[in-house]
Amino acid sequence: MEKKELLYEGKAKKVFTTDDPGLLIVSYKDDATAFDGMKKGTIVGKGAINNRMTNHIFKLLEEKGVPTHLVEELNDRETVVKKVQILPLEVIIRNYSAGSFAKKMGMDEGIKLSRPTLEFSYKNDDLHDPFINSYYALALNLATQEEIDTVTRYAFIVNDVMREYFSTLGIELIDFKIEFGRLGDGTVILADEVSPDTCRLWDKETHEKLDKDRFRRDLGNVEDAYNEVFRRLGIQ
Ligand code: TMP
Repeated sequence: MEKKELLYEGKAKKVFTTDDPGLLIVSYKDDATAFDGMKKGTIVGKGAINNRMTNHIFKLLEEKGVPTHLVEELNDRETVVKKVQILPLEVIIRNYSAGSFAKKMGMDEGIKLSRPTLEFSYKNDDLHDPFINSYYALALNLATQEEIDTVTRYAFIVNDVMREYFSTLGIELIDFKIEFGRLGDGTVILADEVSPDTCRLWDKETHEKLDKDRFRRDLGNVEDAYNEVFRRLGIQ
């Protein structure tokens, strides 16, 4: 697999074309941003952890019937993935109150919800990824009804699988954000990443935050948290 030119550089990853038009190489960076890029920093070792963690979880999800863009891990930071057109929707599932939900609902963080919630935001940094519902998504042609139904179904499966898996690692899955893409034939598959950047992960016993909130909120020990999650995954 030959890496060709840089196709796109995002906040946390670079994407390269390859000699196969259907495949791309993603390269995970140690760069961290928050608040739509307003806050910038580095989390040493994050790129490798997020790459390897995403691939580990995506393999598990594939086994449970959720198709993903994963093709092959090349090295610590780089993975070959299927080329997709990313749906401009962030799909967020919450099991406990936290973050923007806790703020919006006037709740403390860490309160277990009676059932998991799902929300969409429109992936657009200039607009600060506004909260939208499926009617907005349809009205703005962000996705079709069939695609919305598919991502909704997959998102709850992802939640069930990850919740159970993290639980075995002594981690409570508070909430997470995932993204989906369309293959050339229109099939919708899970893309992007699943990592401490995109999930809230709390130690089950101590409720210590083991995710990017340590960076967002200047809580310290950011690298330690990423390393701890990676250690518990037992990937080697
Ligand atoms: P929120 O509570 O700030 O809306 O975040 C919900 C989840 O989405 C949380 O697990 C963090 C994740 N997230 C991202 O992956 N990217 C983002 O840009 C934001 C704001 C949140």
